[in-house]
Amino acid sequence: MSAQRIDGKAISADIRGEIRQEVEQLHSQGITPGLAVVLVGEDPASRVYVASKDKACQELGLYSEVHRLPEDTTQTDLLALIDRLNRQTTIHGILVQLPLPKHIDEKAVIDAIAVEKDVDGFHPVSTGNLVIGDESLLPCTPAGCIELLKRSGVEIAGKHAVVIGRSNIVGKPVAMLLLREHATVTICHSRTANMAEIARTADILVVAIGKAKAIDKSYIKPGATVIDVGINRLETGKLAGDVDYDDVLETAGLITPVPGGVGPMTITMLLGNTLKAAKRLNGIGE
Ligand code: GUN
Repeated sequence: MSAQRIDGKAISADIRGEIRQEVEQLHSQGITPGLAVVLVGEDPASRVYVASKDKACQELGLYSEVHRLPEDTTQTDLLALIDRLNRQTTIHGILVQLPLPKHIDEKAVIDAIAVEKDVDGFHPVSTGNLVIGDESLLPCTPAGCIELLKRSGVEIAGKHAVVIGRSNIVGKPVAMLLLREHATVTICHSRTANMAEIARTADILVVAIGKAKAIDKSYIKPGATVIDVGINRLETGKLAGDVDYDDVLETAGLITPVPGGVGPMTITMLLGNTLKAAKRLNGIGE
């Protein structure tokens, strides 16, 4: 039987509807959640992402400001802007688009963002809170993966989840979130021996390696849920995930397509984080 498709676009639209309602409620209390996005340089992919974030904010009634800085911006100037945004009361979330130009120390910049405004969830304190299970703003793509699972009715507790990829942005945090949901978690990476064998024991397989169609059906347990985080541009110009979708379709039970799976969730979770940060900064409980 062919796998059921997890429709990230539809799930994302549902969540955005919920966020819009909450934002309207805040408006009636005189609060508008505000997001500042900082883009340094001319990276074409980053420009597209930043424009989508800005548009999404407008659609949901959030205030958004985009700071487009030239490629040769100094680290000192960038840190000064972050310091200003940390103190600006109309701003509840700060996102510095990555990658930054080579002359800027990415870690110094991330560390400078106020933790309570860290809507990317990349600050070391946010990461620490995630690991020890304290409240924090969660990294958007990993949180989006968990939301897709929950809203597709996939049980996580007690299941074996295998994560392929160990990046700080996706692999490690998604593994921590799966653990928090009581999965038994295995992380595989480029040095893992017998990766396909391990992956074939997964009830839930999350793939985030950035290599087009690297995962075929030899990695899939029949009926498994497959979450494909990869977005790769093929030579044909088409997009492909890290999973060979057509090859695994008959083996998997549930699968996210690319595009239209995890992708739409990332900005949605960012909007959710900005709303959450605005509520917290205004002393409004969950
Ligand atoms: N560049 C690509 N994805 C992301 C993201 O989720 N956050 C930031 N800040 N930069 C990115």
